[in-house]
Amino acid sequence: MTPALDDDLLTPRATADPYALFAELRAHDPVHWSAQHRAWLLTRYDDVSAAFADKALSNDRVRPVRAARQARGEGAGAADRVLELIGEWMVVSDPPAHTRLRKLAAGAFRTQRISAMDARITALVDELLDGFTGGDLIAGLAYPLPATVIGAMLGAPPEDRDRFRGWSDELALVAFGTGGSARAERHERALAGLREMDAYFRELIARRRVEPGEDMLSAMMGSDSGDRLTDDELSAMCALLLFAGHETTTNSIANAVLALLRHPAELARLRAEPALLAPAVEELLRFDGPIKVVNRWVVAETEIGGRRIEPGQRVHLVLAAANRDPDRFAHPDTVDLARSPNPHVAFGKGIHACIGAQLARMETRIAVGRVVERMPGLALAAEPVWKPVLASRALEALEVVR
Ligand code: HEM
Repeated sequence: MTPALDDDLLTPRATADPYALFAELRAHDPVHWSAQHRAWLLTRYDDVSAAFADKALSNDRVRPVRAARQARGEGAGAADRVLELIGEWMVVSDPPAHTRLRKLAAGAFRTQRISAMDARITALVDELLDGFTGGDLIAGLAYPLPATVIGAMLGAPPEDRDRFRGWSDELALVAFGTGGSARAERHERALAGLREMDAYFRELIARRRVEPGEDMLSAMMGSDSGDRLTDDELSAMCALLLFAGHETTTNSIANAVLALLRHPAELARLRAEPALLAPAVEELLRFDGPIKVVNRWVVAETEIGGRRIEPGQRVHLVLAAANRDPDRFAHPDTVDLARSPNPHVAFGKGIHACIGAQLARMETRIAVGRVVERMPGLALAAEPVWKPVLASRALEALEVVR
């Protein structure tokens, strides 16, 4: 134990630059019990990788929170309903429930021929950039793009897609919230958003049952294996896809552009060599990806790095730390757009590895590629500020001149 270690991931210093703190933890106590976060912090690449495959670490992590609240007599109200609804998502389920949901969703993704989305996404990015004269690139591009793309994939009419962003934001308030006195109000807002979204998806589901389309929702309704998702499950899956693919992709685009602006030689290299774009996206996801931490709930005694981990405890897999581990990546704090191989864990690993990774990569590649190509004078207009959240690496805004 190294009691002097600063393990608070939410101080202004750690929010601005978590990587220095991750390096200290990784060097001195890579499997660290944090009293502050009431969780184990795993910061080594090998430990994080192994944790993704450890059956003692469960993704079924919303239900225990709900049960504990109920045991404390807090089982009523908006918070409980929110937890009940999101507790059914596959990302917070273990096999066999997870296996079934994942199979049905993966089948629907396959029908989408993600590669055919290329032209559509490029057109959308160009449309957004046509209207962007400078200012916050998140508001102008990185924020509106992903929700519009997911809306299109689910088959929602274009005029409805603005509403998707609001719902996703409200969910994020709960999932990525910082706690404190605004908590109750946050749950009320999230629940209101969830109810509205649920009603919307149910209507869309009813329409598609009568008139199937080429979209993912229609694909998730029918299944060759004979297994079918119920309306409840379909609505929950739509909400998950919207939520999981929205803020993450926004931050992927914004963090990538910021990293390029902070590494002008690499930006120049990319401009001179556009073929670098695909490996560049991988490197930028490794260097400053959108997810800092994913959680697991310990359901059986296990051992990680010589430490005994007990049932009932929580484990934080610090992806952002694993991705800078010098034992896995040479010069981990350097941006090398041509880095190869680049086995980063920004999309997770194992049975829950991101199902939208191909789509997210494509959106980031097209958005960053078009920004670099169309904005030769791209520069920061203001020092960006990071949001003080544990799970994600998210900018408040990215003010640029074009
Ligand atoms: C750059 C953007 C993205 C990043 C960095 C990212 C990252 C991740 C990570 C780390 C996980 C694993 C979570 C865990 O192990 O607990 C995950 C799962 C997931 N992601 Fe993504 N994601 C991104 C974009 C997307 C998109 C665009 C979609 C869908 C349209 C999506 C849908 C999902 C879903 C449904 C899961 C749960 C999979 C399962 O439980 O089997 N993600 N993502």
